[in-house]
Amino acid sequence: MTSRRAVFSALFVLVLAVVTFAGVPATRADENPRSAASDTPPAAPKKVIIDTDPGTDDALAILLALNSPELDVRALTVVPGNVTAQQGLENALKLASLTNRCDIPVAGGAQHPLFQKLITAELWHGANGLANVELPPSKCKADPRFGPDLIIQMIHASPHEITLVPVGPLTNIALALLKDPSIVPLVKEVVIMGGSISGGNVNAAAEANIYNDPEAAQIVFHAGWRLTMVGLDVGDKTLYDQAHLDQLSKTHGPENDFAVQVLTFLLGQEAKYGGGGGSPMYDPLAVGTAIDPSIVSTQPMHVDVESRGEFSRGETVANRRNAVERNVLHGDRYIIEGIDRVDPNVEVCTGVHADKFLQLLNSRLAGK
Ligand code: BDR
Ligand code: CA
Repeated sequence: MTSRRAVFSALFVLVLAVVTFAGVPATRADENPRSAASDTPPAAPKKVIIDTDPGTDDALAILLALNSPELDVRALTVVPGNVTAQQGLENALKLASLTNRCDIPVAGGAQHPLFQKLITAELWHGANGLANVELPPSKCKADPRFGPDLIIQMIHASPHEITLVPVGPLTNIALALLKDPSIVPLVKEVVIMGGSISGGNVNAAAEANIYNDPEAAQIVFHAGWRLTMVGLDVGDKTLYDQAHLDQLSKTHGPENDFAVQVLTFLLGQEAKYGGGGGSPMYDPLAVGTAIDPSIVSTQPMHVDVESRGEFSRGETVANRRNAVERNVLHGDRYIIEGIDRVDPNVEVCTGVHADKFLQLLNSRLAGK
């Protein structure tokens, strides 16, 4: 009896304690200036390496990155694509100089795609790749390291901290992977501009960055790291139009004025050769996604890069259901015996807050 009473007493004390504790009102954030919310330091800027073939929209992407406190641009590595490797390096150095960022290493890399001839795109980007705008000679000097080596070194120096943002053909990234596959788990994530699951811009099937080095793209897509594909599906929805340009033209500064010249050129090219409605901000959107991933929505898909198709070399072939039928040979025919799962290797961007992004872009370029 005594022991039952002791148990009841103990239970009573316990329940009382719980009720009393639960009844204590939680401290309101505005009652205490040192609340958790106000103590939260702003997130540390994301360390990014931009691998680029500058390129008009590459230039805008670089300006966006360098004017965004959310990002800490650790290096620019240059890949041939829109222009030759040499022209691209010169352009990247001029952009580093324009933004007074000679502290950022700018390194050249591959001279050509892995297994095919380079295809340059002066038609879209101007003879010098920068909308024919003649920027002053660069005050910055090229880093002597080979771009892929620089990428490898930086990843090892900051394990799990570097986000790679390739906005050109994937040659440099593939070379880094081939030389040192141990970088894969050390990279925070990879956000690429490239690919499409809804048709190409080079031809019916392929997007330019993938088309310009499909073998490199297949290596990068299947490396096993977290990869977000910011492709044409979303890039084609971020149309920079005359109204955006008018808005940006109201403010001035060396970068702002350069951007206005580039965007004026791009709107002209788009009117001549494009679909109308404005110029797609392909590379800036990849940077925008690194700045604020909520700008896009994604779906995990298994994606392969076609390298042999007669009409589809360079196409990013996406399996939306992540499943394939299993065909088994029985005599003179195959019979479907089941469905096999395939693992998604890519977060494919399928939606974008285009207005939010275009306003972000303009606001970061304004007055700079
Ligand atoms: C991509 O191709 C290049 O011309 C642009 O810079 C962008 O990276 C779009 O297909
Ligand atoms: Ca590019």
